[in-house]
Amino acid sequence: MAKLEILEFPDRRLRTKAQPVTVFDAHLKQLAADMLETMYAAPGIGLAATQVDVHQRLLVLDVSEEHDAPHVLVNPEILHAEGHQVYQEGCLSVPGIFADVERAGKIRVRAQDIEGAHFELEAEGLLAVCIQHEMDHLNGKLFVDYLSPLKREMVRRKLEKARRQAEPQAATA
Ligand code: NI
Repeated sequence: MAKLEILEFPDRRLRTKAQPVTVFDAHLKQLAADMLETMYAAPGIGLAATQVDVHQRLLVLDVSEEHDAPHVLVNPEILHAEGHQVYQEGCLSVPGIFADVERAGKIRVRAQDIEGAHFELEAEGLLAVCIQHEMDHLNGKLFVDYLSPLKREMVRRKLEKARRQAEPQAATA
């Protein structure tokens, strides 16, 4: 297994619309395993392939306290959505930023597992938030897109400042 590099906002590659997965092979299994390892190490509760610069419709998540309930969703689609909920979201591609986002309260999702078998999943609460957030990534959308343009610009500046401060001094000598 290997940890993968996570792209960060405002990297344009995060805006790529992912293509459907058509080949369910050992390479896909390895990618899902690496994405889970990367997500747990971050630590995070969800990761979309888009975030590791692989533009296929694959996401992993685990919202359990014990980190023992991983889900792998391939080619996910929302069949039904109802209600509303507001949750303070964060994102591994927008580190250190948290903001309230309104999403559907309850969803029914159809997806394929890592072998290609179809299944359906009912989700509400945090799991529903996480699935919707990760599915947005596959369409090139980030949670900061729900904020006002002014707030989004503030987020961009804050991240660029943090990145500049993190650069080693030797690099500027
Ligand atoms: Ni995210």
